[in-house]
Amino acid sequence: MKKANNFVSDIHVEDYAAQYEGLQATAEAMIFLGGRKTQSLNGEWNYAVDQYDTCIRQQWFLEKSIDQNGFTFPLDYSFEEWPVMELPTCWNVKDPMYYLYEGSMIFTRTFPWGKKEGEEVYLRIGAANYLVRVFVNGKYLGMHRGGSTPAFFKLTEVLEAKNRILLQADSTRRPEQVPTENTDWFNYGGIYRDIELICVPKVHVKDFRIGLVPDGTYQHIDAEVKLSEAVCGTAILEIPELGVRMDLPIEQGTGRVTLEGNPALWTPEHPKLYDVKLSFEGDEVSDRIGFREISVHGREILLNGKPLFLRGISCHEESVPNGKAVSPKEQEETIRIAKELGCNFMRLAHYPHHENMAKLADEMGLLLWEEIPVYWAIRFDREKTYQDAENQLRELITRDQNRASVIIWSVGNENMDTDERLHFMKSLADKAHEMDATRLVSAACLVDGAKNAIADRLAEYLDIIGINEYYGWYAPDFSKLPEMLNNSSPKKPVIITEFGADALAGLHGTADEKGTEECQKDVYEKQVKVLGSTEYVKGMTPWILFDFRCPRRTSYKQKYYNRKGLLSEDKTYRKPAFYVLQAFYESLRSQDHPEDEIVTKRGNFQST
Ligand code: GCU
Repeated sequence: MKKANNFVSDIHVEDYAAQYEGLQATAEAMIFLGGRKTQSLNGEWNYAVDQYDTCIRQQWFLEKSIDQNGFTFPLDYSFEEWPVMELPTCWNVKDPMYYLYEGSMIFTRTFPWGKKEGEEVYLRIGAANYLVRVFVNGKYLGMHRGGSTPAFFKLTEVLEAKNRILLQADSTRRPEQVPTENTDWFNYGGIYRDIELICVPKVHVKDFRIGLVPDGTYQHIDAEVKLSEAVCGTAILEIPELGVRMDLPIEQGTGRVTLEGNPALWTPEHPKLYDVKLSFEGDEVSDRIGFREISVHGREILLNGKPLFLRGISCHEESVPNGKAVSPKEQEETIRIAKELGCNFMRLAHYPHHENMAKLADEMGLLLWEEIPVYWAIRFDREKTYQDAENQLRELITRDQNRASVIIWSVGNENMDTDERLHFMKSLADKAHEMDATRLVSAACLVDGAKNAIADRLAEYLDIIGINEYYGWYAPDFSKLPEMLNNSSPKKPVIITEFGADALAGLHGTADEKGTEECQKDVYEKQVKVLGSTEYVKGMTPWILFDFRCPRRTSYKQKYYNRKGLLSEDKTYRKPAFYVLQAFYESLRSQDHPEDEIVTKRGNFQST
């Protein structure tokens, strides 16, 4: 750009962010974490609210005073004097001033580092909403898009004895992002999952996947390893409780082996996990693995070959005190309440929840639906938007691929059935199938209103059809539900991924009065009666376990909350509909198959 005579640096440059769009951290930058020691950077960070992106406009991260003709320009920042915020967190719950804040905040701190020969150092950010840019010792190291998946950045070359790290977190909603700017949940901002340093040898285990081969024998374990370098050698795979310690040959940086044996199968009722260890020339990782097979046959969903009904509930990632930065204790409480409800299944809507949810579900016994936020009116016609959506899917699958509890990858929610959307979401479904042949792929689709039937063209490319329907709430004529179900003839299993009704906790009235507990209870009673007698409905995840924050909900009963929760937002008050669903699930459970048999004899593993 030609500089005018009265040009004065950053205040005239509007494409200031362009140079910080490159070096995007994607799934391919991820490193397998299981069993690794990490150095936490959680804790006190200095911060500033940066509504106009002045940090990257003026390049504060350079910490360079701007001298002209011996005169030093006054600086617009003072890192050490800024206030302090405890990370990870959502800034919206940290200070009433930031309750509704959406935009950029700058976080910075220093940390010492003692370099070790031959060691590579990476930064891992568990999640930042929506994008995060990383600067260390004045250098731009890259950025990550996507508000719910981890980001990895290589620090090795820039580290000194004392280091300054500066992160720009920008929660701005944008039409081209995933999700787009209109959703039915609150847009929390911040760096809200762990921030840590990972030290690995130059040649290290980059990816490690292990699980049952989905061949219906439950006798074959498949283990696959990818190293950081295309080297040859031998890894050691150990599953002590199954008497396994074997070589896993590595060629050009990858190796794959299939073992024979008969592990005790993982189920929600008997969540048996095995300690697994993998080492390669001094690098060692580990994980806790449940061996199970999920599949569909006709209109049945099979777990370890047995048909099952998915007694589920939907759930957002949120708590009143912590926003999206839910604590391990709150995660455990959510799963405990779902199990109290009688669930064997949970839909983690509408974006990847903290990785600890799937680890807890593995330990506590709960099947999971995990989802990327391809939600409502995504820019389906835009290639970069597709790349962002697919990257979030690849990051989710790479992060949770060893979790027995995760049985379904969902590629989106409630999207209009257009040609662009069909191409976009078929591509995502194909990518999920290509990356992971051991799980099922689904999406929460809409009923075809004109036909009052299940007729979404995307269903052809899914293993399970998710359907959101609100007969009795948004669709007043409840008789249309049985009509819709009779009009439909799906060739594969259907999960009703949403039904429900708002109820303000404690508000009473007649079943006709919307927003009362009686109305919600009536909707649940009618829904479970009809759905429970529909042969091809093999699961449900009613909307939703807890009331949750939602800027679109402004009525006096809602007060900026979506009130479809079976519990109040503080998770203490159970509305009557909770007990309707609990009784229905109890009736199903008593018809369920006998408790899974636990195979106690030790497996005899030989490589094949
Ligand atoms: C939709 C959507 C949810 C939303 C719900 C509602 O089905 O998927 O995210 O909260 O309806 O309107 O309450």
